[in-house]
Amino acid sequence: MSVIKKSLFSEKEVEVGSGADNIIMAIESSCDETACAVVKNGREVLANVVASQIKTHKLYGGVIPEIAAREHLQAINVVVEEAFAQSGLRPEDITAFAGTVGPGLVGALLVGLNAAKTLALVYDKPFIGVNHLNAHIAANYIDTDLEPPFIALLISGGHTQIIDVRSYSEQEIIGETIDDAVGEAYDKVARLIGLPYPGGPLLDKLARDGNPKAHILPVAKVGKYDFSLSGLKTAVLRLTQKVKQEHGIDSFELESPLTKDICASFQENVSKTLLKKVKNALDERGYKQVVLAGGVAANSEIRAKFFALEKDGYRVNAPLLKYCTDNAAMVAACAYFNENTFDDINVEVFSRVK
Ligand code: KG4
Ligand code: ZN
Repeated sequence: MSVIKKSLFSEKEVEVGSGADNIIMAIESSCDETACAVVKNGREVLANVVASQIKTHKLYGGVIPEIAAREHLQAINVVVEEAFAQSGLRPEDITAFAGTVGPGLVGALLVGLNAAKTLALVYDKPFIGVNHLNAHIAANYIDTDLEPPFIALLISGGHTQIIDVRSYSEQEIIGETIDDAVGEAYDKVARLIGLPYPGGPLLDKLARDGNPKAHILPVAKVGKYDFSLSGLKTAVLRLTQKVKQEHGIDSFELESPLTKDICASFQENVSKTLLKKVKNALDERGYKQVVLAGGVAANSEIRAKFFALEKDGYRVNAPLLKYCTDNAAMVAACAYFNENTFDDINVEVFSRVK
């Protein structure tokens, strides 16, 4: 597996993904993280810099696209300079420059993608455009010897998919959510309970001290590999109203067992459903390898349930927490391993997968 990539001006050629030493600098700016990383041969991270905008968006309770784009502009030069400094490399040492093309927020994507294209043009190196979702899957190659085939569960703020990854570049989406993504459901439920943004990680933390059997919540009946989470969200809304009424309270306190039990019951419901569907996919397709990908792959209970599959002989992989949520190391890994990239310097950003 290797592809020849050319720079635009002199058409200088490099072979990417051949196992020969390739050093890729990648930039990610699809949502609320401005990130730049340098990765050697798709697996060894030489620099990983992430500037998070959480503090800003916290004020509004969610990501405001226009503000995100402006913050990316402020951070982009700093993260690129920091990545060069961390890696100890100069631009001439880089084999190719990669950037996220989509899906994501258009104004946000433009900042990082144009920076990656500019670096490629100025230093006469190939440009590699990467799909953000493929990058989340490729995060699993970092620091491991993992190779396809495997089943990937991609769970992020915008997507929930079960993917049959047959090779580094060939994959088939075999199931997905018909409404909310898992991360979106976490964030919405967190808001219902009154938790501050971003709700997912905090809900996870509170759930650890709660009773997962305190409340029985519904599981939607959809296609065998598909998900539907909007009914669950409504069920949690009714549950919060009922609990408030029964206990004569107007809001939930963070440290209250009432709050923690709702969090734990929701988390149990989601993690159990994810595991069941993925286990079916593994067994029906005869796979023994499974990987988690996307921001919600950082979730403690989902990780625990999936890693428990190891005792039944499955190989389970999940990226380190810092490579689960948005980062650029995964973009560089994807640029190295996945031949399905957008290498045309004129490629335009896209907000949704067509
Ligand atoms: O992949 P990501 O960083 O951005 C997207 O591409 O969407 O995922 C962000 C999502 C958010 O919804 C966030 O609440 C969720 O991942 N998340 C978590 C946890 N850490 C991040 N959800 C549940 N438990 C966590 N520990
Ligand atoms: Zn993401």
